[in-house]
Amino acid sequence: MFPRMCGSLRGGSDAHDRLRRQELLLGGNMKFEHYMPVRILFGWGRLSELGEVASSFGRRALVVVGRRSARRSGALDRALDSLKRAGVDVEVFEGIPPNPTSTLVDEGAEEAKKKDCDIVVGLGGGSSVDCAKGIAVAAVEARPVWNYVVSEHPSGALPIIAVPTTSGTGTEANPYAVLTEPNLKEKRALNRPPFTYPKASIVDPELTLSLPPRGTAVTGMDVLFHALEAFVGKRCNPFVEAVAEQAVRGVTKFLVRAVKDGSDREAREGMSLASTAAGMAINGGGTTALHGMEHPVSAHLDVAHAEGLCALSGPYLKYLAEVVPWKMARVAEWLGEDVSGLSEERAAEMAVVAIEELKEGLGLNLRLRDLGVHEDMLEILVSDTLSVMGHNVANTPGELDRGRIYEFFREAM
Ligand SMILES: [Fe+2]
Repeated sequence: MFPRMCGSLRGGSDAHDRLRRQELLLGGNMKFEHYMPVRILFGWGRLSELGEVASSFGRRALVVVGRRSARRSGALDRALDSLKRAGVDVEVFEGIPPNPTSTLVDEGAEEAKKKDCDIVVGLGGGSSVDCAKGIAVAAVEARPVWNYVVSEHPSGALPIIAVPTTSGTGTEANPYAVLTEPNLKEKRALNRPPFTYPKASIVDPELTLSLPPRGTAVTGMDVLFHALEAFVGKRCNPFVEAVAEQAVRGVTKFLVRAVKDGSDREAREGMSLASTAAGMAINGGGTTALHGMEHPVSAHLDVAHAEGLCALSGPYLKYLAEVVPWKMARVAEWLGEDVSGLSEERAAEMAVVAIEELKEGLGLNLRLRDLGVHEDMLEILVSDTLSVMGHNVANTPGELDRGRIYEFFREAM
């Protein structure tokens, strides 16, 4: 938690003072709020505790799961067994796709009401857990979930339990549920604390053992970008910095290992921890323009979220190295780069190169055109970034205008 002096970085006295000030996030006028109410149960085999945890919140659970993997891996059966053993009745809402829609959430809420469920369990990747969060809110007042995404504040929500089976979104540690409105083609976060925080999250690395290499790589890059964006963002605070560092160091050490050998237990554990740490980082620090630009891409084209992030990250990371070199220099250290004797500007460039090399090594050195983006879509993607994701743009360091965002998209083509 207490930062190092980082005396090895050169950059002139002003730059060095600024670096230290930023590391400490001090200026003699610190003011922030940090709220993280989720009970996190981390560890191998802890899925077996789901029933006991759930029984303190309700008697009948709607278990929200993805298309196949949780059933195929046996995770769903083990979850249902645990719930039944604890005397919790179960209803299964199955088949949640990536990029879940608000329409699907409304169907799930209808199901929860019809079956009289008083608790919602999200078991799966980010899409299943986010869908569960939406259902928990929409089931209380019988209102479309998109109302709560856009403007209305709910009066309550069913208790949510998150059981992630990927090491990626970190939704288990924050109040965000990313949903897509299919007619508007808008992808936004439902963010209604305290109601959309899970009451408890079971982070069991065993559940990630069956995640295939590509899924491990893609979700792992999401972890990296969550941590990096929370740290560089204007809302960063010292607690955000602490967990962001843990997440980036974890990705650096364990992501490639987990991709190469999915049965590497230490690597899986490290990535599960990194994912939850990064989820905590964005809980306090939010994400920035990178996520702001990606959401319109996956809303229009239904691509994997982190593939979009990888495609857009090149020009955006170069921008960060320009506007917050003292922060990107820290990121370089976390990425394992030897920055001793370097100016902060040079160290910041090394962070950009290290992330590019990581993407390359994972086969994720993508361009937007690889994901189906055409030049004639760029104007609408820029407009959506500014309108739908304006809060992310506002959290971005420096000053971004429409022209610069357009350039990011164009360079990423
Ligand atoms: Fe993300």
